[in-house]
Amino acid sequence: MKIPFNSFATTHPQLREEAIKTFENFYDSQYYMLGNMVKNFEKQYAALNQTKHCIGVANGLDALHIALKVLGIGEGDEVIVPSNTYIATVLAISFVGATPIFVEPRINSYNLNPDVLEAAITKNTKAIMPVHLYGQACEMEKIMEIANKHNLFVVEDNAQGHLATYKGKLTGSFGHINATSFYPTKNLGALGDAGAMTTDNEKWATDCMTYRNYGSQKRYYNEVIGLNSRLDELQAGLLSMKLNYLQDWTTDRLRIAQQYLQELQPLAEAGKLVLPKTVENASHVYHLFVVRTEKRNELQQFLTDNGIGSLIHYPIPPHLQEAYQHLGYQKGDFPIAEEIAATCLSLPMYPYLTATQITEICDKVQLCLI
Ligand SMILES: Cc1ncc(COP(=O)(O)O)c(C=O)c1O
Repeated sequence: MKIPFNSFATTHPQLREEAIKTFENFYDSQYYMLGNMVKNFEKQYAALNQTKHCIGVANGLDALHIALKVLGIGEGDEVIVPSNTYIATVLAISFVGATPIFVEPRINSYNLNPDVLEAAITKNTKAIMPVHLYGQACEMEKIMEIANKHNLFVVEDNAQGHLATYKGKLTGSFGHINATSFYPTKNLGALGDAGAMTTDNEKWATDCMTYRNYGSQKRYYNEVIGLNSRLDELQAGLLSMKLNYLQDWTTDRLRIAQQYLQELQPLAEAGKLVLPKTVENASHVYHLFVVRTEKRNELQQFLTDNGIGSLIHYPIPPHLQEAYQHLGYQKGDFPIAEEIAATCLSLPMYPYLTATQITEICDKVQLCLI
């Protein structure tokens, strides 16, 4: 049985008619830029995320970039970011001219460790960027406490965390301005690039709208040096359609994760595999189901040979990327991030994976590691 790492074959056929209807509405509206579909989606997503405002943009990277820009972060400033994040969080810091300061994650949750956060704060620190990695909410209460104590901004990277919560409050609703991505494979994904910022602050919401549209609110009058990063009208329509399914799809991800956790437990008990752990008060929406083993490369090859897809999120931590050589970091500087990069493997995870498929994957993992 072939099992891909990810597949739209389980979700998209059920949406086909609705998607075509959405396209027809879009086409017939003859209004293709920042029209009603964008406005409706922004309203729906703000309500879903329990924030006053949502501002749609072209992708998640731009959302992170614009959030930092609107908060006035720039040259000479330092921004704290987990050492094991996806490169986009770090790129956004570089785009505004600030310096990324890496802080190690907890080895059990893979999320920013609030216990070591304070030690990284200097007089130049302006913001903290928690990343709800793999779909698990960061320990937002402690992070917000530290940020408030030091007068720092918080920009959550919620690209992987749609509907995750910490103490019942949704990720993407804690920080000053938060960013998310609707890249097609995300828990809520468009059929192309898309992203958004969320905030409760009206002025920042207006500034985000200005920045995404050439720095202009009134046509041909430019207040700031902005970007062209508008959320595409058709993608907004498709996102509104998919939003109605997000809760069900999330519930299904939890079912799949539960089965993985159950069937792989003997390997974990034998010390041969590390399973994902959800920290107290956090919820996990399993954007990815990430296991760890010293035999990661062998396991990935074995799964490939048996027709099972898997991916590594992520093989090289940001401080060791060629693009960041100029920061002068070396192997060994962030051992937890490096350990995760060397041992992690993401197993297939998407709504409607069947119980039989999951058992097949778990059996193969077992066969390889036992
Ligand atoms: C954690 C994280 N941050 C940011 C991004 C960037 O989003 P996008 O690909 O929409 O630019 C992604 C996804 O790709 C991500 O996983």
